[in-house]
Amino acid sequence: MDDSRLLMARLANVTKAFDLRHTRSIKEYVVWLATGRKGDFSETFNALDDVSFDIHQGESVALLGFNGSGKSTTLKLVSGVLLPDEGSVQVRGRVAGLIEVGAGMHPDLTGRENVYLNAAILGLDEAEVDDRFDSIVEFSGIEKFIDTEVKFYSSGMYMRLAFSIAVHSNPDLFLVDEVLAVGDEPFQRKCIDKMLELRASGQTLMVVSHDLDLIKTVCERGIVLRNGQLLLDADINEAVDYLRALDG
Ligand SMILES: Nc1ncnc2c1ncn2[C@@H]1O[C@H](COP(=O)(O)OP(=O)(O)OP(=O)(O)O)[C@@H](O)[C@H]1O
Ligand SMILES: [Mg+2]
Repeated sequence: MDDSRLLMARLANVTKAFDLRHTRSIKEYVVWLATGRKGDFSETFNALDDVSFDIHQGESVALLGFNGSGKSTTLKLVSGVLLPDEGSVQVRGRVAGLIEVGAGMHPDLTGRENVYLNAAILGLDEAEVDDRFDSIVEFSGIEKFIDTEVKFYSSGMYMRLAFSIAVHSNPDLFLVDEVLAVGDEPFQRKCIDKMLELRASGQTLMVVSHDLDLIKTVCERGIVLRNGQLLLDADINEAVDYLRALDG
């Protein structure tokens, strides 16, 4: 790897813990309260466990792993939605993308209003959004519904609009989590082409998808996670082969 490239993100020994609740019956809970709360109704587990990696400018990196392995948690840490319990997360510049379908959209606002709201959150001013508005709507393909409240959108329409806003906000680091799965085929194709275009123009991408063929098209490097631990950080073909050989 060419480490002379600008460092865009660095995760150093990152651990993220969540509470795992053991909710039993109400009766058991009442007994637990009445008997002085002995034992615990929750325990913590590490969704990420001592994970370290660097992302350099222009890299397109896939996070790979089975359900619950910590991929989305990693993207949320990079985007700043979550903070690490241990270790550090450093990111250069502006981060945008899709980490959860519907995240950032306000259901009672129209598509048009959400474009302005989201773009502002992503750091664009009103004049910049005015300039890009038509292009955002055109890419999303939901012209007809742009003045409809987004609570009436289908999940694919949500995703189309959110993806379009994110790519047009010109982020330094573009994150995409699985959301492409809800788009129809033509739109998926369009998103893949867009990501390839971003990659060709030197943008930095982090992508999560269970579609390993798509991942191989879009990414050059793969990081394999299992149970919150980083198992492999390698060329994408090697990483995909490694994942396919792992036991669920
Ligand atoms: N806010 C939360 N509270 C409690 N547990 C959480 C929370 N977010 C994630 N987890 C847990 O952390 C683990 C990792 O979750 P994560 O969403 O990062 O997995 P993933 O690799 O994205 O999985 P998938 O492929 O299913 O999307 C899972 O066991 C999940 O239940
Ligand atoms: Mg996930």
